[in-house]
Amino acid sequence: MLLTEIDHIAIAVHDLEAAIDYYSRAFGAEVHHREVVDSDGVEEALIKVADSYIQLTAATRSDSPIAKFLEKRGEGLHHVGYRVDDCARALESMVAAGATAIDSAPRPGSRGTTVAFIHPKGSHGTLIELVEE
Ligand code: CO
Repeated sequence: MLLTEIDHIAIAVHDLEAAIDYYSRAFGAEVHHREVVDSDGVEEALIKVADSYIQLTAATRSDSPIAKFLEKRGEGLHHVGYRVDDCARALESMVAAGATAIDSAPRPGSRGTTVAFIHPKGSHGTLIELVEE
């Protein structure tokens, strides 16, 4: 089994401050980590739940994939991050199983992780992110 944990569920939101405020009021949640990922055009706020995260994600520019997602589908579940020990090996295994890779090779993600995204088409409708810590 190549998966070791659900790393995060990513939720696309219009207004990051409003979403943080809501999670704070509703759950007493605190932001564990916050980061702008320039290459992806996003700002993330991570709320830790046991050893996983809820990743509230907003767009930092209008041409980012998250901005396009929000425009087309509105707020909601964007992708699931599966934690793995070896991102390259998991990516290779997924492609061998018929997955369509968005990232042909692992690349830097937030929190100093190494990540690769897999297209929902070919993965039963879910955008998957492989996350190696
Ligand atoms: Co993610």
